[in-house]
This record gives sequence, structure tokens and C-alpha cells, in this order.
Amino acid sequence: MAALALTLVSTGTRGETLVEARQRLMVAVVKATKVMREMAQGKAKLDPDLVKDSVRTVSEATAVLPNLFPEGSQAETSAALPALWQNKEDFDARLDEMNRSAILLVFAARQGDGAFRYAFDQYQQVCQGCHAKYRKPE
Ligand code: HEC
Repeated sequence: MAALALTLVSTGTRGETLVEARQRLMVAVVKATKVMREMAQGKAKLDPDLVKDSVRTVSEATAVLPNLFPEGSQAETSAALPALWQNKEDFDARLDEMNRSAILLVFAARQGDGAFRYAFDQYQQVCQGCHAKYRKPE
């Protein structure tokens, strides 16, 4: 896991800006989330192994993301709000919470559709909570 997280960071130094790196990670989270959403909505069959892979992507991203919002990394191209840097501890805690609620999905997936649907709902609320506070509305 640590080695994988490092890979993600080092690609961030290949001429990629911090903003690009964090948007790329967020997109990786989104893709993994989409796979799981289809299962939660019953559009795809619940597949505990696929859930595990998707959660691994989310966990890797949450391990790296706290480092990609250093002081002064606000930018024109970024959708991050200044409040983020005023509340960096809260922001990092929310990333932690996203990781924890993602890991619960792995266990819920083994229990069945009902448990998974409930856990997925909890997980998505973490995304929405953070965006409401720290991301510019689209
Ligand atoms: C801890 C806070 C936080 C959590 C949790 C979080 N996000 Fe984000 N998200 C952000 C911020 C801040 C940005 C804007 C980053 C930037 O533009 O620099 C963002 C950007 C995005 C974007 C836009 C990416 C782009 O190309 O600009 C999407 C889509 C997204 N998040 C989806 C999700 C989903 C899905 C989850 C939950 C599984 C999630 N986010 C969880 C804070 C969060």
C-alpha cells in the first residue's frame, strides 16, 4: 500500500501540477465510486472482489491527498475553496472518514445487497459533506 501511494506521488512530479495531481486522484476515486454505485443501485451484480479493488483505489488516493493541498496551493484552475486551508485539520479528518467508510464497504459487500446499499449511502455522504464545505459549486 505504501509503495503504491508513492507511485501516485511520484507521477505527481512528472511536470504535473499539484492541482492536476489532486484532480486526477479525485477522478480515480470517482471512477471507483461509480463501479460501486452501479452495484448499490442494483444495475450490476454485487461483486465483493471488485468492491475490494475499488476500495483499494480510494484508500490509496486518501493516503496521498492530504499532501496535495499544502498551504498556498490555491489556484485559478482549482475548485477548492479558501475555507479548506483555514480548516485543514477538518479537511484531513474528512479524508480519513472517507477512507474508513470505504473500508466498511468491503465488509458490507460480503454481507449482501442490503448491507452494501446502506454502507454505500454512508460513504457518499462523506463526499457530499466535504464538497459542500470545501469545493466551489459547479
Ligand atoms: C475531504 C474532502 C473531500 C472528500 C471526502 C471528497 N472530495 Fe471530491 N473534491 C474535493 C475538493 C477540494 C475538490 C476540488 C479539487 C481541486 O479542484 O483542486 C474535489 C473535486 C472532486 C471532483 C472534480 C474533479 C475535477 O476534475 O475537478 C469530483 C468529481 C469529486 N471531487 C468527487 C468525489 C467523490 C465521488 C467523493 C467520495 C467518494 C469525493 N469527491 C470525496 C474534496 C473532497
